[in-house]
Amino acid sequence: MNTRREFMTASAGIAALGLLGSEQSSGQSSGGLNILVLGGTGFIGPHFVRHALARGHKITLFNRGRTNTHLFPEAEKLVGDRNDNLRSLEGRRWDAVLDNSGYTPLQVRQSVDLLKNSCEQYLFTSTRAVYTDFIPAVMDEDAPVGPKGIPESEWSGYGPNKVLAERIVQEGFGARTLITRPPVIVGPGDRTDRFTYWVDRLDEGGEVLVQGHHADPIQFVEVRDLSEFYVHLLENSTTGIYNTEGPQAELDTAGLVHGIRAITSTPSNLNWVPWDFLVQQGEVPQDTVVFWNRPSGRYLNYGRMVNARAIDKGMKFRPLATIAQDTLAWHRTRPAESQATLRAGLTRDREQELLRLYRDQ
Ligand SMILES: NC(=O)c1ccc[n+]([C@@H]2O[C@H](COP(=O)([O-])OP(=O)(O)OC[C@H]3O[C@@H](n4cnc5c(N)ncnc54)[C@H](OP(=O)(O)O)[C@@H]3O)[C@@H](O)[C@H]2O)c1
Repeated sequence: MNTRREFMTASAGIAALGLLGSEQSSGQSSGGLNILVLGGTGFIGPHFVRHALARGHKITLFNRGRTNTHLFPEAEKLVGDRNDNLRSLEGRRWDAVLDNSGYTPLQVRQSVDLLKNSCEQYLFTSTRAVYTDFIPAVMDEDAPVGPKGIPESEWSGYGPNKVLAERIVQEGFGARTLITRPPVIVGPGDRTDRFTYWVDRLDEGGEVLVQGHHADPIQFVEVRDLSEFYVHLLENSTTGIYNTEGPQAELDTAGLVHGIRAITSTPSNLNWVPWDFLVQQGEVPQDTVVFWNRPSGRYLNYGRMVNARAIDKGMKFRPLATIAQDTLAWHRTRPAESQATLRAGLTRDREQELLRLYRDQ
């Protein structure tokens, strides 16, 4: 195995020759990092692993052996459980760990305690949900995290648990910590359907209900952009905490739906329905009208997170049209039932009913 220093020297040489350029590691790398992925077979994992293998890195997957077990026969696979069985990781060394599957402080404490002296760097996939709220005018990585007014001993749930988990990584890995706080992750393989709903809906055409106001800001990150950024960060031994919102420049929801509509030739009419009406009809804040939030109250600047730090470290973003086209192409390969019953968004009946009610009021 090349040492991390040898690999970095080789990479720096390649970059100096202009072969890597400023790209988010899309060219062929000389390889050399030995990377442990805690998870690796869900959504982000496969995109990361594919890209890292293509760059010549060596991957070890650690998971329970339940999800997508057919993937990556070329990678080493270790079986265990983050909750109570990390034995297969004992006595091993890696250059870097990617932790996609840590949700509870206990899970993260166990892996950090075991790996802090045998791995150089820990990349923890956290979430935008760590922030206390989205009210500050500047929503950068220094904005407050964790629930306000609740004693820490009573914190529970997704966001608060990720705050505690981030701290555990920082305590264990110190200056070798790398944390990302992604927004909604979209693209091929996304089983939440939050973005896929819009791609599918606009491809079907007709009278489309679009929630809220056309100038509402929106952010998301494409799974390959995130995964390629991860590889790039690890190749450069980058540390720190990063908001990973895309796209690069501000986007409003009009830009989003018009941008997606541009990839299909099916005619459609976009019907904007104000938030207040949707609240009256019981559609908001429930998760039925999806993918972006009304920019008010605690979500005031939810769609305006500052991504400058990630961009400064080399994060790149695919065009919306590419993301939409690739997501649609992937969606059309799914089983008929998954295509017919999306996990997010309105049913066509409910959508048309809401449009009728809105017009008739
Ligand atoms: N989706 C979003 O919009 C979004 C937004 C922000 C942040 N995030 C973060 O992104 C991460 C999700 O990533 P992903 O699902 O795409 O990751 P992934 O690495 O592709 O997949 C999850 C992996 O975890 C493994 N796993 C699950 N439970 C396990 C356990 N108890 N012990 C060992 N392995 C286990 C699964 O395999 P087995 O089932 O075989 O064990 C699978 O390989 C989370 O940290 C989430 O907080 C997601």
